Amino acid sequence: MSSSLVTVAYIGATILFILSLGGLSNPETSRRGNLYGIVGMTIAVLATVFGPRVMAAGIPYIVGAMVVGGAIGLYAARAVQMTQMPELVAIMHSLVGLAACLVGFASYIDTSIALTGAEKTIHEIEIYVGILIGAVTFSGSVIAFGKLSGKIGGKPLLLPARHWINLVGLVVVIWYGREFILAKDIASGMTPLIVMTVISLLFGIHMVMAIGGADMPVVVSMLNSYSGWAAAATGFMLSNDLLIVTGALVGSSGAILSYIMCRAMNRNFISVIAGGFGTGEGAPAKKAEGQPAGEVTPIGAAETAELLREAKNVIIVPGYGMAVAQAQHTVFEITKHLREKGVNVRFGIHPVAGRMPGHMNVLLAEAKVPYDIVLEMDEINADFPDTDVSMVIGANDIVNPAAQDDPTSPIAGMPVLEVWKAKTSIVMKRSMASGYAGVDNPLFYKDNNRMLFGDAKKMLDEVLGALKA
Ligand code: TAP
Repeated sequence: MSSSLVTVAYIGATILFILSLGGLSNPETSRRGNLYGIVGMTIAVLATVFGPRVMAAGIPYIVGAMVVGGAIGLYAARAVQMTQMPELVAIMHSLVGLAACLVGFASYIDTSIALTGAEKTIHEIEIYVGILIGAVTFSGSVIAFGKLSGKIGGKPLLLPARHWINLVGLVVVIWYGREFILAKDIASGMTPLIVMTVISLLFGIHMVMAIGGADMPVVVSMLNSYSGWAAAATGFMLSNDLLIVTGALVGSSGAILSYIMCRAMNRNFISVIAGGFGTGEGAPAKKAEGQPAGEVTPIGAAETAELLREAKNVIIVPGYGMAVAQAQHTVFEITKHLREKGVNVRFGIHPVAGRMPGHMNVLLAEAKVPYDIVLEMDEINADFPDTDVSMVIGANDIVNPAAQDDPTSPIAGMPVLEVWKAKTSIVMKRSMASGYAGVDNPLFYKDNNRMLFGDAKKMLDEVLGALKA
């Protein structure tokens, strides 16, 4: 394949990747988005393997590696549980980081690249920065995988003077960068390169170890962004335009996603980037003293069914508990039944409901809930005052009015779904236990609120039975 044909293929793949990202931003178009991504990646791989930079003798090795890698990927994708998705993503990111490191070392010792003057310096900077980002991504992602899968404890590790340790590491990395660029030959440049790699690996470990286990999903999204920049750096090392563009797309979309998650959780984006996230202010809060206590009004499944049957407008707010109970299919059955009876049922989805981005959307899509009744928080929040019943299924923090009313609350300022503004709100959960943030929820004690205690799946089955009776 000629180099101009490869360029054309790369441009086509780039366009498909952009269309893919656009498609993935909406559940309705996400399948198409995935398809664009698959086609784009197939074109990219074929154009690279059969392009002028790969010798024919190397192709069997590449095909062999692809068969092995593809088989492992296929197995992992089939075996993974929905709840293990974040850890799978984390370990995948570590491979991008590792690849960036290996490509960096390989292109440094590759004697066929004979550059001089400014070109040589630029290439060396690319190598140095590429390995740096790759090593941080690699070790950080491995630790994230360990924490998410419970192999490493979730408690944040806070070394004394940890910011100073990081700062000293940064200074040493910059100093050795200078040594590396000034090195006369490959042998003398190798020491600074290895020292920097070790420091970067330690930095990645240190950064993620300092983060509380439950905050890991935000970190995974950040590591996603880092892996994109690592891929872009690899693209610079290999002078591969497609890899630069693709890496930048992943890097920037990961950064935007991290920002959206931080905002929805009322975290500070800068403090996340600086590491140490999930500690101090960011830590899952301890149960605060003096929280509102009082009487809650329990309700049974039959009464819930009665309220739903009589309602004109219902908004369902699912949360982490719906995922735990795997209640989405019953939720769909209830929705279908009510819609057939003329009730206007819609869903309100908080950006950080559950434990990973899009968690609720994926579950509802799996249960075949129509996309057009699944609305984001901003789209539906104003409609609660005109709603007869808001039904909260296994959600807690995302419907906590203290976020708006109590400036001292650990979740103060976090945007929430205003379910209490409906005529009646029903909260479905097993006990009075707090949610992820560990704070009490004044919603439970409101006059117009009812508590339907029990496992979400079991209770919804009962509600469905009562509705059909
Ligand atoms: P949470 O506030 O964690 O509340 C979930 C509630 O579900 C719990 O209070 C629990 O109460 C109930 N529950 C658990 N198992 C249940 C079951 N089998 N049946 C019925 N109820 C059950 O969840 P949320 O409202 O979805 O909010 C998400 C939280 O996670 C936010 O604080 C968010 O900041 C955080 N977070 C989200 C993400 C992303 S990206 N989504 C990432 C990291 C952190 P009982 O034990 O009483 O049943």
